[in-house]
Amino acid sequence: MSAAWDLGSWSREHLECVEQALSRWVGQGAPAGLGDAMRYAVLDGGKRLRPLLVMAAYEAALSARQSTWGAAERSGADEAALRAACAVELIHAYSLVHDDMPCMDNDVLRRGKPTVHVQFGEAQALLAGDALQAFAFELLTPDDERIPGAVQASLCRQLAHAAGSAGMAGGQAIDLASVGLALTEDQLREMHRLKTGALLEGSVMMGAACACVPPQAKAALQAYGAAVGLAFQVVDDILDVIADSATLGKTAGKDAASDKPTYVSLLGLAAAQAYASELLAAAHAALADSGLPDARALAALADMVVRRSH
Ligand code: IPE
Ligand code: IPE
Ligand code: MG
Ligand code: MG
Ligand code: MG
Repeated sequence: MSAAWDLGSWSREHLECVEQALSRWVGQGAPAGLGDAMRYAVLDGGKRLRPLLVMAAYEAALSARQSTWGAAERSGADEAALRAACAVELIHAYSLVHDDMPCMDNDVLRRGKPTVHVQFGEAQALLAGDALQAFAFELLTPDDERIPGAVQASLCRQLAHAAGSAGMAGGQAIDLASVGLALTEDQLREMHRLKTGALLEGSVMMGAACACVPPQAKAALQAYGAAVGLAFQVVDDILDVIADSATLGKTAGKDAASDKPTYVSLLGLAAAQAYASELLAAAHAALADSGLPDARALAALADMVVRRSH
């Protein structure tokens, strides 16, 4: 009889490779203190949800593969998934560095440490973000013939779309333009979908792309990613109100203090929690529709996103 499946041990196993790879790759050889700021921003902290989503979607898509791969193709796909997992975390880390700067949210605490601009100065924080973003795309395009050029290009396109004006950066622009405004629910949903949802959905789709996921499963994974991505930011809004700074590793209560529109300010706490549960149910329904033989990690990650305490 096999042991019960457990997200904790699955995550530890998969994150070991990701942590080692990030530590090996990030900031190496960067001059004039830039490497230190890059490593500070990326290493030793964070839940690593986005890399876990890449890995979980990759494994789920692998479980649906009809044709078999040779050893070289399989090792190339494994390598592509690892690189995709690291690349999404680099984009995320860069977005946090810039999000915390005085010109944006002006935060001093992140992942339980002083923010990058507090530790290294604003100019170095700006550059660390720039360099992390660029390095994400370098990681996706190795000179490695086991990873087909079309796969590399597709991963770059998906990540660029999720990070740019149609995704994270666009959502952050809406966020800054919305301070003090009463957004409609549609407007708030759009802001959250872009600033946070796009990169989580992109993580799922990039993982799936590494295993050439079949079309029906692809559409279902997109719906899963969209639901989990939006749920993640709804819960972030909730935790900003109900959790403390020590638990979060970032300053609690900032959204109300900065007059940001959030799901809690729009709907109230109970309705925001109910909406997160609704999105969780939608994520599970999408997995049920996907026909993927093994989507256990994706299902458990969705639960984690909505039930987390930090
Ligand atoms: C925080 O993301 C920023 C948002 C998009 C809400 P996470 O809560 O995933 O931050 P880390 O990576 O665990 O620090
Ligand atoms: C951040 O949203 C989204 C990003 C793209 C970084 P928040 O501003 O709510 O994230 P936290 O609460 O500072 O982590
Ligand atoms: Mg922000
Ligand atoms: Mg912020
Ligand atoms: Mg927040």
